[in-house]
Amino acid sequence: MSESLRHRLRALPDFPDHLPFFDLTRTPADPVALFLQWFEHALAAGVPQPHAFSLATATVHGVISSRMLILKDIQAAPGPAAASSGSAPSAATEADALPPQPAAWHFASMCTSRKGEELNGNPRAAMNFYWPQVGRQVRLVGAVTTLDAAASALAWAERPGADGHENPQWQLYALHPTEIEFWQASADRHHIRHRYEL
Ligand SMILES: Cc1cc2nc3c(=O)[nH]c(=O)nc-3n(C[C@H](O)[C@H](O)[C@H](O)COP(=O)(O)O)c2cc1C
Repeated sequence: MSESLRHRLRALPDFPDHLPFFDLTRTPADPVALFLQWFEHALAAGVPQPHAFSLATATVHGVISSRMLILKDIQAAPGPAAASSGSAPSAATEADALPPQPAAWHFASMCTSRKGEELNGNPRAAMNFYWPQVGRQVRLVGAVTTLDAAASALAWAERPGADGHENPQWQLYALHPTEIEFWQASADRHHIRHRYEL
């Protein structure tokens, strides 16, 4: 059983045959601009849920857990110390040439969930987007803050299938990345990484 599983796993392709070129000489100064380029490219390449990512959190004792979530927004934002749900323009409008702007990567969940409890005690997390059709991964690490009740209520009301009832436990969070790494698989196995430290 395990021998046969091992062989079947070895036989599966790691990446598709045709992979996009990642030109490191033309990367924008702002990682959000690069993320949005890659996001649009992933959508056009048929990635069904390019807004889905894995979120890793940990307890105060360092016990780690992860799960898939949906990205709700990327907003220009103040740093973690003063994060709030301001009405700053969307990061999507930032020009490629601009230097990195502080940005908040929004996700939502129940504050009473395991991740909610873990973020309450240890407000740091890692996000990982993986787009298999194009052999690309984007990972982020940063501090997490909570957005206010009005922003969280709006996020609840905007969910697909929302039925009008309220859910005060639904919480909008913002991750403020200090590291973002873009990773491109390459057929010759010289995979390409581009890292931003913010
Ligand atoms: C593709 C995908 C997207 C998901 N998006 C969300 C989401 O945006 N918010 C959420 O609370 N759970 C979402 N879930 C469910 C979570 O993965 C998870 O099961 C749930 O939030 C409970 O996690 P926890 O017990 O670790 O807190 C999603 C699951 C999948 C597979």
